[in-house]
Amino acid sequence: MCGDSLVTENRKIEHLKICLERDVSARQISTGFGNIHLIHDSISNIDLNEISTSIKFLGHELSMPLLISPMTGGTPEAKKFNGILSKVAEEMRVAIGVGSVRAALQNPDLRDTYRVIRENAPDVPVISNIGLPQVAKNPDMAFEAVSLLDADAIFIHLNKLQEVVMREGEPTTTGGLQAIEYLIDNLEVPIILKETGAGISREAAETLERIGVKYVDIGGAGGTSFAAVEYYRARNAGDEEKAYLGLSLWDWGIPTVASLIEVSLSTRLEIICSGGVRTGIDAAKAMSLGAKLVGVALPLLRAASDGVKGVKEWMQRFHLLLRSTMFLVGATDISQLRRKPLVVTGFIREWMASRGLDPEVYGRRQ
Ligand SMILES: Cc1cc2nc3c(=O)[nH]c(=O)nc-3n(C[C@H](O)[C@H](O)[C@H](O)COP(=O)(O)O)c2cc1C
Repeated sequence: MCGDSLVTENRKIEHLKICLERDVSARQISTGFGNIHLIHDSISNIDLNEISTSIKFLGHELSMPLLISPMTGGTPEAKKFNGILSKVAEEMRVAIGVGSVRAALQNPDLRDTYRVIRENAPDVPVISNIGLPQVAKNPDMAFEAVSLLDADAIFIHLNKLQEVVMREGEPTTTGGLQAIEYLIDNLEVPIILKETGAGISREAAETLERIGVKYVDIGGAGGTSFAAVEYYRARNAGDEEKAYLGLSLWDWGIPTVASLIEVSLSTRLEIICSGGVRTGIDAAKAMSLGAKLVGVALPLLRAASDGVKGVKEWMQRFHLLLRSTMFLVGATDISQLRRKPLVVTGFIREWMASRGLDPEVYGRRQ
C-alpha cells in the first residue's frame, strides 16, 4: 500500500471515531431554521393520508426530498456504514452520496468499501465524491470517481475550512474553476458543487452558475463543524497550531438558512440544502425557501451505529414530521409546500437586510 493511501485511510478512521464519540456540532452559530416560521393553516381541505412527499431527482422518483449526505469509505468500518446506509436508501427510496473516493483511486483494494453502495442501491441516485483541490490538480480523477460507482452525478466538495485546519490539508483552490468548467463540458453526469459546513454565498453561486454549474449543495454552518473535527485530531496529535486554528474557526461559515436564501434568491441553481438539517420541520422550511431536497449526515451516521433498524427508524420519524408539517400548513405535495408563505425573524432577517434581500417576498406570497 502506498504512503498517501495509508495516510488517507488513517484519517478516515479518525474522522469516523471523532464524529461518533465527540461533540462536533456548531456551538455559537445556528442554522437559522429557528428564525423561519411557516404559517399555520387551520381550515384548508386536506387529509394527512393523502399527502405526497415524493419528488423527482436525477431521473429517479424519491419517496421524500432526502439525501444521505456523503460521509465515508476507504476502511472496513466505513464499508459497514456504507452497507447499512445504502440498504436503507434503496428500501426507503432516498438519494445517497459517498464520501470522497480519493482513497479508492489511490488504492484499488479499497474500491469495495464504496462499491457496496451501488450494489445495495441500484435504483436510487448514487452520487460520487471528490474534492476540489484534487480535481484542480488532476481533473481526470472525476471520471474514475464516476465509473467506480456507476454514479448518477458527482459531488465536487468545497472544503477550504477543513483544508486550512487539517494537519495534512491542501489549502489551495488554484485552478479549481478551470477544472470545473472542463468537467462540465466533458463528464457525462451532472456535477454538484458541495460545501461541507461553511455555506455558499450569493457571489460564489453566481460565479458557479455563470460557468455552467446547475446544482449546488449549500452545506451551511450550524451542523457538523469540520473545524471541530480537525481540532480534535490536531489535539490528539499534539499539534498546537492546528488545534488553535480548529478551536478559533469552530463556528466559521454562512449559516445554512442564510446561504440557502442567498443562493435561491439570486440564481436558478437546483439546491440541496444541508448542514444541520435535523428534523422534518427543518426539511419543510428548506423546501419552502427553495431547496430541491435536503441532505443529512451526522444524525444518520449515528443512527447507523444501531444498524439498518436505527437508520430506518430515524428516517420514518423524519418523514412523519415532514408530512405532519405539510398537513399543518395545508400543502398536499412538495410543489405546494414551496409556495406557502413564511415569516423570517431574528438574525436571518437582519442578514437578509444587510445583503439587500427582501424578507417580505416570502411573507406576501400566496
Ligand atoms: C464522518 C463524516 C465524514 C464526511 N466526509 C465527507 C466527504 O468525504 N465528502 C463530503 O463532501 N462531505 C463529507 N462530510 C460532510 C457531510 O456530507 C455534510 O456536508 C456535513 O456533515 C454537514 O451535514 P450535517 O450537519 O448533517 O452533519 C462528512 C461528514 C461526516 C460527519
